[in-house]
Amino acid sequence: MTTARVLFVCLGNICRSPLAEAAFRRAAEEAGIEVHVDSAGTADYHVGQPPDPRSVAEARRQGIAIDHYRGRQLVEEDFRRFDFILGMDRSNMANIARRDPGDGTARVAMLLDLVPGQEGREVGDPYYGGADGFRQTWSEVEAGAKALVAVLIDRND
Ligand code: 4NP
Repeated sequence: MTTARVLFVCLGNICRSPLAEAAFRRAAEEAGIEVHVDSAGTADYHVGQPPDPRSVAEARRQGIAIDHYRGRQLVEEDFRRFDFILGMDRSNMANIARRDPGDGTARVAMLLDLVPGQEGREVGDPYYGGADGFRQTWSEVEAGAKALVAVLIDRND
């Protein structure tokens, strides 16, 4: 299988997409498939910053360290460098489309569209809520990550 290159995208790259990145790294490792993974934000608010402490805490609860991740903004080159660009909500999808240079190779989709039965559902923004929002985010991005692993295994190239 060729190494799949996957980019998870949210607004700030400090709450949802770092958790999606961590969940997918784990799911891929458990499945024994090699992947190249990153995450980015459509906004530049948190470039160079570590993930939100609530995301760091939720990942730690799952046994994963993400405090070394650093925020970056989505760039045009990402559309050519990645096989999948996966946004979290409809607003992300609109922002991603605005940046799309049109000559990219990446398949662009909303993460939960990959999960059978959850098509069209968004991974909601937990930024303004409490810790349970981040638990919910974890369970959603984990479902998306596992579904993506299944897609990659089925693709079998
Ligand atoms: P994220 O959450 O897109 O999941 O990283 C947010 C992070 C920061 C902001 C909004 C959402 N913000 O407005 O700074």
